[in-house]
Amino acid sequence: MTVTSRARVGIIGAGPAGLMLSQLLALRGIESIIVESRTREYCEARQRAGMLEAGTVAALRAAGVGKRLDVEGLEHDGIYLQFAGERHHVNFRELVGRTVTVYAQTEIVKDLIAARLAAGGVIEFSASSVVVSGIESDAPVLSYTDAAGQPHQVACDVIAGCDGFHGITRPLVPGLSVYERTYPYAWLGILADAGPSTDELIYSRHPNGFALYSMRSPEVSRLYLQVPAAESLDAWPDDRIWAELQKRFGLPGWSVAEGPITDKSITPMRSFVAGPMRHGRLFLAGDAAHIVPPCGAKGLNLAVGDAIVMASALSALLLDGSEELADAYSDTCLRRAWRATHFSYFMTAMTHVQPDDPFDDQAQLAQLRYVTSSTAAATSLAENYSGYESPTFEV
Ligand code: FAD
Ligand code: PHB
Repeated sequence: MTVTSRARVGIIGAGPAGLMLSQLLALRGIESIIVESRTREYCEARQRAGMLEAGTVAALRAAGVGKRLDVEGLEHDGIYLQFAGERHHVNFRELVGRTVTVYAQTEIVKDLIAARLAAGGVIEFSASSVVVSGIESDAPVLSYTDAAGQPHQVACDVIAGCDGFHGITRPLVPGLSVYERTYPYAWLGILADAGPSTDELIYSRHPNGFALYSMRSPEVSRLYLQVPAAESLDAWPDDRIWAELQKRFGLPGWSVAEGPITDKSITPMRSFVAGPMRHGRLFLAGDAAHIVPPCGAKGLNLAVGDAIVMASALSALLLDGSEELADAYSDTCLRRAWRATHFSYFMTAMTHVQPDDPFDDQAQLAQLRYVTSSTAAATSLAENYSGYESPTFEV
């Protein structure tokens, strides 16, 4: 027998977008249910992004999940850009009066799950057979089978598709326009038990390829190497990774601190934007609608931004019967997504090496020299990196 219930908003996906949306709706007194195909442990351990825009930090605080972030987050004034044997600091605080903060996506997800559950929120982990129907009516239905094998049907007012790039909701939007770019390279990412030997993130362009030095805590480093798109992890034993990192970051008298590697993965790179992000009572957010290459750290910030815009739109729709913000939702989010899409593409194109393309080499070096010597160019980079037109949430 199918169990029936009701929730004002049915959210698919317990990633940053779905969890943040549920948390913000709860602050407005709107109850929701989250249905997630993975286990709680899997969601909390999935290694992904780490760099938060100033607006994302403010939003997490406003959502009531800023406590651990304020203690453990690592605030940064800017980034280093390295090329041709030189390392230059781009100081966001001086240029645009904003900072950025390293706080891992795993920790944001843990904080949001804990906050939802503590407040009595419903998250159905390990759900299967998730199906959405009736999105063109005012009474869409979310169906799923729970971890114990029990089928459920939830009558909702709105469905939020926060189910990531491979989810089920994006294909439900008819007449979708899709814009896409693939890149001939991927990122090999590692987590290492080694204190970072840098105070700021380093984006390094080296003739062998791009490398990024990031961190998770004073004891843990997060590092990435540009590798060919079809690369296998088998080709990268730990000693080869460290040797390549030392080469791509190396400066006289300075080296990367090494330690045991605790996680290793390869992420393909793609720019992808799909719209509209709404059809009837279905609203898409985060990776379900758009993904960016990770250079520039926009993916997670966009997902949180969409959740903020959606929470305001759904509050107006469900509490006041006002359609205005809901009607503007897709355009509002796509405008910001396209700005971030261009910025990520710009950062990627400026720093990732194309084999046997001497024209591109020279153009990249000219652009890197420009953004590290012109205050106008550096200000534009700082404005975009630290968060341009971040949406805010009024509690
Ligand atoms: P997700 O985090 O993908 O969450 C979607 C959730 O929906 C998942 O938990 C999934 O299990 C669930 N789901 C999917 N289908 C269903 C279904 N049918 N039913 C129920 N639940 C479902 N960004 C950066 O800025 N820097 C990085 O270094 C970086 N690294 C990344 C590495 C990888 C491998 C990936 C995939 C992304 C990375 N990103 C990075 C991007 C960033 O992590 C994402 O933009 C962010 O996770 C988006 O959040 P989201 O909530 O929209 O989607
Ligand atoms: C990370 O810390 O994982 C990170 C930071 C900056 C990026 C991408 C990833 O541009």
